[in-house]
Amino acid sequence: MARNPILVANWKMYKTVEEARAYGRELVRLWEGPRRDIPARDLVICPPFLSVWALSQRLSGSIFQVGGQDLALGQEGALTGAVSGYLLRDAGAQYVILGHSERRQHFGETDAVVAAKLKASYDWRLTPIVCIGESAEDYMEGRTEAVLRRQVEALLGAIPSEGFAQVIIAYEPIWAIGTGHVPLPDAVNDIGQHIRQWVRDALGDPAEHMRILYGGSVSTKNIVDFWRQPEIDGALVGGASLHVREFVNMALMHLGD
Ligand code: PGA
Repeated sequence: MARNPILVANWKMYKTVEEARAYGRELVRLWEGPRRDIPARDLVICPPFLSVWALSQRLSGSIFQVGGQDLALGQEGALTGAVSGYLLRDAGAQYVILGHSERRQHFGETDAVVAAKLKASYDWRLTPIVCIGESAEDYMEGRTEAVLRRQVEALLGAIPSEGFAQVIIAYEPIWAIGTGHVPLPDAVNDIGQHIRQWVRDALGDPAEHMRILYGGSVSTKNIVDFWRQPEIDGALVGGASLHVREFVNMALMHLGD
């Protein structure tokens, strides 16, 4: 099953609107020339909410697409500080990251909340990038599989099963995020296999289309090792994606250029 590779930049809480605009300009400039002929792949930038509109305007007509880093449930309402999928979509986002470990850890998002957000992304036609991952403690104590399975199974009933063909699952071990420590690529592939099998057992065919990413200290130094794995369809990149050249270089490596 050929699945379209995808590279996603997660800027987290970095970059002003002006910096986002400058990055967008540079991104398009660096991508010009022979690279235009590379077959279309999915290249997505997820800036802070404040830059979604400016960046999507700047990147419109290019290969690059924009996503949010979270969404709030509902459409509009008296919810101070919240940004719904409806508002994100209107501002030009086509993707949304959900259930990042930083959201789970610092904002108290439970598996049930992440499942509800998956449903919201489906309703607003945003392609979800759902993050799962075990803590260092879970990893050390051999609970990785059980934790991941629980996180995946919590998602299964949230949307109609055909919807899973568009779902993207990002496996991000918490101990690998921002640390420079990465798991072995074939261990990541085994995990990808498990994730797909759990979804296949429950929902069948859509699991073959569902894309699985690796995230956690990805850079130009290691991205090829991960995307080369048959179960891994791309990467979710934090720190290294803040540098536009590094992002373009990863995208080109990712595309096998
Ligand atoms: P990192 O972050 O690439 O800086 O490790 C990845 C992420 O948290 O999505």
